[in-house]
Amino acid sequence: MAFRLSHLSLALSLLALALAGVAIYRNTYEAMSKGFQTLSPELDLLESAASILTLNNNNAEQNSDSKLTQPLSPSACIFSAVRRVVNRAIDRERRMGASLIRLHFHDCFVDGCDGGVLLDDIPGSFQGEKTSPPNNNSARGFEVIEQAKQRVKDTCPNTPVSCADILAIAARDSVVKLGGQGYNVALGRRDARAANFTGALTQLPAPFDNLTVQIRKFNDKNFNAREMVALAGAHTVGFTRCATACNSNNVNPAARLQCNCSVTQNDTNLQQLDRTPAVFDRVYFQDLNRNQGILFSDQVLTGNTTTAAIVTTYSNNGAVFLGDFAAAMIKMGNLPPSPGVQLEIRDVCSRVNPSSVASM
Ligand code: HEM
Ligand SMILES: *[C@@H]1O[C@H](CO)[C@@H](O)[C@H](O)[C@H]1NC(C)=O
Ligand SMILES: *[C@@H]1O[C@H](CO)[C@@H](O)[C@H](O)[C@H]1NC(C)=O
Ligand SMILES: *[C@@H]1O[C@H](CO)[C@@H](O)[C@H](O)[C@H]1NC(C)=O
Ligand SMILES: *[C@@H]1O[C@H](CO)[C@@H](O)[C@H](O)[C@H]1NC(C)=O
Ligand SMILES: *[C@@H]1O[C@H](CO)[C@@H](O)[C@H](O)[C@H]1NC(C)=O
Ligand SMILES: *[C@@H]1O[C@H](CO)[C@@H](O)[C@H](O)[C@H]1NC(C)=O
Repeated sequence: MAFRLSHLSLALSLLALALAGVAIYRNTYEAMSKGFQTLSPELDLLESAASILTLNNNNAEQNSDSKLTQPLSPSACIFSAVRRVVNRAIDRERRMGASLIRLHFHDCFVDGCDGGVLLDDIPGSFQGEKTSPPNNNSARGFEVIEQAKQRVKDTCPNTPVSCADILAIAARDSVVKLGGQGYNVALGRRDARAANFTGALTQLPAPFDNLTVQIRKFNDKNFNAREMVALAGAHTVGFTRCATACNSNNVNPAARLQCNCSVTQNDTNLQQLDRTPAVFDRVYFQDLNRNQGILFSDQVLTGNTTTAAIVTTYSNNGAVFLGDFAAAMIKMGNLPPSPGVQLEIRDVCSRVNPSSVASM
């Protein structure tokens, strides 16, 4: 009886913890901004029509240094197809590169790189990661991943590739396109037939997390302090919503914000995360050393001698940062799915396959 009671109370405290977590996020993270720029449907249709007609030309063009008549190997075809869609999306909107890097992080840090973040909720029957507070109205780039998936299907026949793989490639291509260092992306991830709302809430670091909590969350995924600081360097690109930054729990109080927080807590504008949000460089770390990190979670990296020394190393030497970041991204991209979860190669990234074609 005592045994059972202790289990019950453990379960209840876990539930309370989860609910408290949701409440904190609701207050600090909840999004006001909706309808970020979406891709133009006309352009996309034109592009896919053109891609079918000019398949061989495209392949030749992207492989101009290889034999023109040689068809691409299956993986070269996949890489080429994803890169083209990603580069086009970033040319249209530079921030998309940042968003795709973050999407891969949010995929991998929650039960491994399993495409879980991409699954749409099904009202009444399925609540996944997409609407979990760290992602709701915040994670973006889903349509680019869907387009890349479609382009692989169109241009690389009989070459199934998981949505988790596409995310990994898209993140790497974004790093490169924004000025970071390239690295190899191994393929072979598979997509989960499940997602984890609570997992997104508890496994992902939050902007109000102190250093102790951040170190624990990264350690849970087998990353040391140096790898954690390198990965946090992704905030060298992209933006936070003022809805996030105007909450004092989430922000470095010394940061000079562009958001009009004095007027309204729900300013729907964006705040750049460093002085050069379109370029993958070391300026994020230089900003930290000027006490101008934006998020609370960013600035605490200078408050501990170990992590502060790493920040200074990176702020002094961009090449060291870019190299460490690339290595940490490879490691992050290898985080395995939860044991026992059903895996497949999803046909459409936002939903699981009909069960008849499920377990591949
Ligand atoms: C260290 C702990 C981290 C915390 C607490 C954190 C938190 C956040 C928050 C709160 C935002 C803004 C979201 C919004 O306002 O909608 C953000 C944006 C971003 N995060 Fe992180 N993050 C962390 C680590 C990472 C890592 C490891 C990566 C990738 C490797 C990453 C990539 C990004 C990018 C690129 C953006 C900008 C996205 C955009 O402009 O769409 N973050 N992060
Ligand atoms: C996600 O955001 C929408 C729109 O702002 C909101 O209606 C919904 O309650 C949020 N979902 C969760 C689970 O917080
Ligand atoms: C979902 O996330 C929770 C909290 O992190 C974790 O305990 C649980 O194992 C996860 N579930 C699966 C199926 O991975
Ligand atoms: C860090 O945050 C956790 C959770 O809020 C808290 O329990 C802990 O005391 C904090 N640690 C420090 C050093 O502030
Ligand atoms: C902030 O909002 C107030 C009131 O709407 C306005 O007077 C002020 O110019 C705004 N400041 C900035 C920096 O946008
Ligand atoms: C912002 O918040 C105020 C009060 O908190 C509310 O009246 C207003 O409608 C909100 N504005 C937007 C754009 O959500
Ligand atoms: C600083 O970070 C190091 C490296 O993770 C950790 O071992 C140490 O306990 C931290 N010190 C403080 C005071 O938080």
